[in-house]
Amino acid sequence: MTLTSTSNLNFRAEVLKRLNTPGAVRPLSQSALKLMESLRMPESNVLDIVGLIESDPGLAVRSMALANSPLYGHSREINSVRQAVVIIGRSALAQMAATYATQQLFCDDASGNTMIMQLQAELFHHSLGCGAVARALVEHLSDVDDDEAYLSAILHDIGKLVLMQCDPAVYECIVHQSSTEPIWRLEHERLGITHQEVGALCSQSWGLPESIVLAIKHHHDNPNEVQHPEIVALVSAANQLAHHWNLGDHRTGQKPEGDVDGTFPDEFPVIGISSEHIRLSRAVAHQYYDELLQTCGTG
Ligand SMILES: [Fe+2]
Ligand SMILES: [Fe+2]
Repeated sequence: MTLTSTSNLNFRAEVLKRLNTPGAVRPLSQSALKLMESLRMPESNVLDIVGLIESDPGLAVRSMALANSPLYGHSREINSVRQAVVIIGRSALAQMAATYATQQLFCDDASGNTMIMQLQAELFHHSLGCGAVARALVEHLSDVDDDEAYLSAILHDIGKLVLMQCDPAVYECIVHQSSTEPIWRLEHERLGITHQEVGALCSQSWGLPESIVLAIKHHHDNPNEVQHPEIVALVSAANQLAHHWNLGDHRTGQKPEGDVDGTFPDEFPVIGISSEHIRLSRAVAHQYYDELLQTCGTG
């Protein structure tokens, strides 16, 4: 292992300082988090959910757009949040809230740096791709919560967003070099910190459940050696399959972001995902990805 140099220690200290500075890293939408929490509680009713959605204009607009989209095939226009909530249903609303919260993190890069904007766009599409695969895979599993799986998957590389904002030029070099070497190894060597560690610290500061924090922290590690191995293995599998199926990889002819570890496996025994499950999930994941692009307005 390469020894961490003084400059790397400085970079690491800078990142940690940034994470502890209020406002330096965009917070995860509290209204979306409250909505997800309320949707999980069986005792919450439609009025509770409508109230939470209406408290955030962005969520209200997103829910109306989703209810009026071809996904739900309504011939007449849905013009109230209440109608939208009834039509969309709890599960899809939770996914909408998680996607909305993640998309907010990628919005409005104040620097106007085109390099960062491009890297962010690529990362956002990869996040959606991973979320779509996780959603497809989790249908075959009983030990992993659907909403936690989806949120973990779309946030799994969020640490990269923080690292690229800290030093766009260095991070762009790392991304380019990662076609031949795992990106987390390059981050460790050149920055003294990895995107998994940064992502875990962010998700911890947002108050996300431990299972999600650990899924983000260990998505490049052996799931058998960590806590919550099922969700860790699921996010790791979704990450690898998203790359393998080119879901969210918009750069043709390039190996995407060096985020895949070793040889691609044809099954994931830790979570009981067989090669047959993978085969069945492929078309479903592509369908979910296309739907996500539509609902995010990036299709
Ligand atoms: Fe990663
Ligand atoms: Fe990834």
